[in-house]
Amino acid sequence: FKQKTAYEILSGLVGSEMCIRDRDNPIISDSEYDDLFNELLELEANYPNLSFSHSPTQRVGSKPLDGFTKVDHLTPMLSLENAFHTKDLQDFDKRIKERLISEEHISFSCEPKLDGIAVNLIYKEGYLHQATTRGDGKTGEDITHNIKTIPSIPLSLRVTEIKPPKLIEIRGEVFIDIEDFKKINRNAKSKSEKVFANPRNAAAGSLRQLDPKITASRPLKFFAHGLGSLDYGKNHSIQTQMEVFDFYRSWGLPINPLTELSRDINECISYFTKIEGLRAQLPYEIDGVVFKVNSFKMQESLGQVSRAPRWAIARKFPAEVGSTTVKSISFQVGRVGSITPVAGFEPLNIGGVVVSHASIHNFDEIERLDVREGDSVQIKRAGDVIPQIIKVDLSKRHKSSKKITAPSKCPSCNLSLIHISEPTRPERISYAVFCLK
Ligand code: IVH
Repeated sequence: FKQKTAYEILSGLVGSEMCIRDRDNPIISDSEYDDLFNELLELEANYPNLSFSHSPTQRVGSKPLDGFTKVDHLTPMLSLENAFHTKDLQDFDKRIKERLISEEHISFSCEPKLDGIAVNLIYKEGYLHQATTRGDGKTGEDITHNIKTIPSIPLSLRVTEIKPPKLIEIRGEVFIDIEDFKKINRNAKSKSEKVFANPRNAAAGSLRQLDPKITASRPLKFFAHGLGSLDYGKNHSIQTQMEVFDFYRSWGLPINPLTELSRDINECISYFTKIEGLRAQLPYEIDGVVFKVNSFKMQESLGQVSRAPRWAIARKFPAEVGSTTVKSISFQVGRVGSITPVAGFEPLNIGGVVVSHASIHNFDEIERLDVREGDSVQIKRAGDVIPQIIKVDLSKRHKSSKKITAPSKCPSCNLSLIHISEPTRPERISYAVFCLK
C-alpha cells in the first residue's frame, strides 16, 4: 500500500508528475519529492514484482544495454521539402490549391523547426510503451531506456476529459539548449574528453547511449510536433494539426509555445519573419519554420511525393557565412576506402556554432575552388549541414602557396590509390580517389 501511495503521488495519478515538478507551480517541495522518491526506490528494491515500467524511478536510468534493437515504425516518419525563398512558399500554396480543387479555406499550423533529433513515442493505454529514433524513416532504433530519463516526456499521459487513446505514435524533437550544450562541452574539455560540434550532435550523442545513466545526466528537452498511428476506438478522432497540439497539451506533453495557426500563406510568410527576428533570443537552435496544412482531411487527399508530404514544407533560414584562414588540408579515408579532402581552419563562430573543419566533397571541388593551405576563405554553415568552403579570397593569397593535388598513396595504409573518372557525369565527379585495401 505504501509503495502504491508513493508511486501514485509521484507519477501523477494524483495530480500529475508534471504538475508536481512544475518549476513555477509545484504541488510539493523538492525535498518532499526527494523523500518520496527515495522511499519509492527502497520499496521497489524490496518488492521488485511491484515495480512498474512507468514508475518515476525509471527516470534515473536503468541498467546499460548490450546494443540497440531495430524497430519498424507503425507509420513511416516522413521528411520535409525545403523552401529557401518567399516565392517557394507561394508556389507551395498554389500547388496545394490546384490539387485540392475545392474552394475550401486552407489554414496552416506554423511551428519553429527545431534543430534536434526526431523521435517516435508509442503510448499504449496512456503509458509510454516504446521510444525509437527516426532512423531511415521506416526503421529506427529502440531508445526507450534513454527517453524515460527525459523529465518533460511523460511516462504516463495525464488523464483529463480527453482520454488517452489505445495506441498513439507521438512524434517530436529531442534537443539541448545552447547554454546547456556549452556547459557539457566545458565539462568535457576540462576532462580532455571529446567535445560536441553543436547542440544537435550533443543531443544525438546523449540519446544514443547504451548506458541510460549518461543520458539521465544530460539536460535533454522535448517538444512534440506530430502524429503517427492513432487507434482511438470508435468515439474519438482528431481532425487537425492544431487539435493534435491541444490533445498533447492536455496529456502533459510539451508543445513549442511559438506554435500558431495561420489562415493563409501570407500569414505564414509573416510568421517566418517574426520567428527569424526572435531566433537569436531563443534558448535553443532552430534552422527554420515548418508549415503544415491544418486539416487532416486535406492532408490525406494531398498525399506525398517519395518521402515528403505534399501538405508540409520547411522554410529554412539562409545559410550563415563567415571568414577564416585554412590551416591544413588533409585526406580522410572513408569506410569504403574513398579519400575525402578535409580543410582545417582557425576556429570560427558562425551563428553561435564554432566550426574548425569543412569537408571538401572531392578533388574536383579542390580544383574548382583552387583552395590552398594558408588561404583566406569564406565558410558557409546551413543548419545541420557540414560547413562548406564557398570562396577563396585570391587577393590575400601568399605567393609561396602550393596547389593541392590528389595523393598517390593512401594516408592511412600507404597503398597506391586509384583514381576513377566518371566521364558520363562530368558535372558531378570527374574523378574519385579510392584505396582498395
Ligand atoms: S514535421 C511530415 N515539424 O525536421 C512531417 N518536423 O526535415 C515530418 N523537425 O525529421 C516532420 N521541427 O526532425 C516537423 N515542427 C516540426 C519540426 C520538425 C523539427 C525536424 C524533424 C524532421 C525534420 C524534417
